[in-house]
Amino acid sequence: MKLQPVKIGKHTLRYPIIQGGMGVGISWSNLAGSVSKEGALGVISSIGTGNYQNRRFVKNFSFDRPSGTAEFYNRGATFEIFKKAREICGDAPLGANILQAINDYERVVIDTCEAGADIIITGAGLPMNMPEYAADFPDVALIPIVSSSKALCLIAKRWEQRFKRVPDAVVLEGPLSGGHQGFTYEQCIDPEYQLEKLIAPVVAAARSIDASIPVFAAGGIWDHDDIARAIELGASGVQMGTRFIGTFECDAPDIYKRLLLDCTADQIKLISSPVGYPARAIRTPLIDTIDRRDGLAIRCVSNCVVPCKRGEEAKKVGYCIADRLSDAAAGILETGLFFSGSNGHRIDKIISVHELMQKLVNGEEV
Ligand SMILES: Cc1cc2nc3c(=O)[nH]c(=O)nc-3n(C[C@H](O)[C@H](O)[C@H](O)COP(=O)(O)O)c2cc1C
Repeated sequence: MKLQPVKIGKHTLRYPIIQGGMGVGISWSNLAGSVSKEGALGVISSIGTGNYQNRRFVKNFSFDRPSGTAEFYNRGATFEIFKKAREICGDAPLGANILQAINDYERVVIDTCEAGADIIITGAGLPMNMPEYAADFPDVALIPIVSSSKALCLIAKRWEQRFKRVPDAVVLEGPLSGGHQGFTYEQCIDPEYQLEKLIAPVVAAARSIDASIPVFAAGGIWDHDDIARAIELGASGVQMGTRFIGTFECDAPDIYKRLLLDCTADQIKLISSPVGYPARAIRTPLIDTIDRRDGLAIRCVSNCVVPCKRGEEAKKVGYCIADRLSDAAAGILETGLFFSGSNGHRIDKIISVHELMQKLVNGEEV
């Protein structure tokens, strides 16, 4: 199948492929810039920007971590990440991913628009007020991530009534994706909730709102044939996360890529998360440590997400999401939490973003 360009608001992607935002620190300047340069949409994760290589922008630390929400979602660091990505992709469309569930969502949307995002993608909750926060940036396209047609209709109704605006596109994320799921554990394994069953109703809902809203299917998409199948089922394109980790340009540390190269299908599991949704990750020794409630300090330093209630949920599930994801970004095997989609074990070689895009656009044999 020849992949067609797709329009998202005022921006056009040469290929209908979005690289999903991956936090903390997995899709920053190098990955997102390289993907946008190749004609797909590179998406910077706006999560935990004050970490890792950006610590020089942080003024306040506690227990050696960015202290408080404003430092964790650090404005200076966000600008730096965008500047470096732009050095790679020039003025090609460049996106950002911001979780609805974070503290300071409004401020982070504004920072991210000011830093130069063309497109903002929000999941982990329904972004009911997103257009209000981005109102001063009319060229910035807004994309909610949904897991059902019902969620899309709720968002669209509210945006239409309050802001006279419709989503510029929609990402539909099924339950094979990496990181947080928009489903219960039971739904994640229920055949009725698998991506191929969800595409038609969400596409129909999008068409009923506005015929021009493209739907991008996500979760377990691996190769050109998967993309073609999603398009045959009615999607306009796809969002992919995990496969982009297997590239030289991905900002993840080498240890993360090595874990994916070495892992088997049965090592990729759903676990509980303080964000309140099941999350899919590689089963490293950390997961056993969490299960045993053994030795991991849980103190809320970053106040990162609303549902965690300043560490209350972290204590219940046995770990702090900000600390564990930040440790994965820093390459600390023992205490890092390494998110992966259910297909992560299929990464068998690290390749360039250019080569991966060739495969996705033209087929694996290229
Ligand atoms: C390491 C990792 C981190 C992720 N972080 C985020 C995130 O911060 N926000 C978000 O909306 N989705 C996040 N996701 C989901 C991806 O953006 C993408 O939608 C998903 O991984 C698609 O499924 P796939 O990995 O099977 O391609 C993450 C996924 C991974 C693998």
